[in-house]
Amino acid sequence: MSATSSTAAQHESLAKSFDVTWAREQFPSLGLQVHGRPAAFLDGPAGTQVPRQVMDAVQKYFLEANANTYGAFLTSRRTNEVMSAARAAMADFFNCAPDEVIFGQNMTTITLGMARAIGRELRPGDEILLTVLDHDANFSPWKVLEEKGVVIRKVDIRESDCTLDLDDLKSKLNGKTRLVAVGYASNAVGTINPVAEITRLAHAAGAMIYIDAVHYAPHGPIDVKALDCDFLVCSPYKFFGPHMGTLYGKREHLERFKPYKVRPATDSVPECWETGTQVQELVAGIHAAVEYIAELGWRCDVNAKGRRAALLAAYRSTVAYERALATQLISGLLKIPGLRFFGISDPARFEERCSTVSFRLAKGTPTDAATFLGERGIFTWDGNFYALNLSERLGVEQLGGVLRVGLVHYNTAEEVDRLLGALNEFSAA
Ligand SMILES: Cc1ncc(COP(=O)(O)O)c(C=O)c1O
Repeated sequence: MSATSSTAAQHESLAKSFDVTWAREQFPSLGLQVHGRPAAFLDGPAGTQVPRQVMDAVQKYFLEANANTYGAFLTSRRTNEVMSAARAAMADFFNCAPDEVIFGQNMTTITLGMARAIGRELRPGDEILLTVLDHDANFSPWKVLEEKGVVIRKVDIRESDCTLDLDDLKSKLNGKTRLVAVGYASNAVGTINPVAEITRLAHAAGAMIYIDAVHYAPHGPIDVKALDCDFLVCSPYKFFGPHMGTLYGKREHLERFKPYKVRPATDSVPECWETGTQVQELVAGIHAAVEYIAELGWRCDVNAKGRRAALLAAYRSTVAYERALATQLISGLLKIPGLRFFGISDPARFEERCSTVSFRLAKGTPTDAATFLGERGIFTWDGNFYALNLSERLGVEQLGGVLRVGLVHYNTAEEVDRLLGALNEFSAA
């Protein structure tokens, strides 16, 4: 048996052990119907659905803990507890210390603030390395530092499979590079970047690394300690939580850089990085989202010791399950005449991608296809998804971008079949 087929067999058996029925039961919105047909939520990359546990936690906060922080009374003390419990949960999620976790409105707002704070210390001629593959939220916040004389360099992709061109990255890293900003996974084409290797290269050149893990977070486990990255940011609304952002920052950096803040607000880390009053009810929801993933993990591995181990167990089973779904989807797509596929399509390389898939059909625009599918209760996205550089680089920006299908662990093989049937119908009409 070849290495590839044994991996495929392992994935299949793990995929079978994943209890998708239980997972779907946790998400009340999955019961939605469109014209009498069940909705198929294939729009996860723009925001996933939310389990009941998260909704309950938000409601519980309002019922029992609604106050501002650091007051001398019950609900305020409870709010402090909500904030620190959520920080501890995210610390398990990232594998860091709780005081290395900050919360914010969303990834874009957090990154704009961080770029401004880091930019304070940069000098004309300092360089920042960005990529063509990234979402614009990990591009524009750094690019505006050109106003200070910072030089922006851009790493290209290999167009054939939409992977980062590491030779190009190496050739653009040098002693003047102060920071490399890179995505963990592409929200447009699903490529998973070799972020451990890129971190090593950045550090060897004396640069920091800022990783956008927004798209990766629902698809794979994050370990900032193993990566040894300087910053890593993601958005809980992409991994079954509420609409917020959260960042891991190495403690030494959170202490050394100076946040833009108002005078009465604390100077202590990490709260000095959290501007104004946080959306505390949603922070309670973030905690519940992490607990949901851990619960999933304990159902897959009753012996997992502690929340971090349970999170890893959850991802072991969802990665395998999602890979089986992606394999089914991609092989079906490649059979549609005239379809142009973007990204890695060779099953032997599926470890380098997640289950987010983009393509163009021979007929109609991506908006036409998304509308056709939407009418049939199948939710997909069309456009550039703010991966503007990539859309331009692939020459599709003027053509309406691409159609994107995102599969997460609550999606099913039946939904993939339904989608493929509808796409064939659209293409043949
Ligand atoms: C890869 C990636 N990075 C950043 C963002 C921006 O995240 P937020 O909406 O939390 O600002 C998104 C949102 O789609 C994304 O997919």
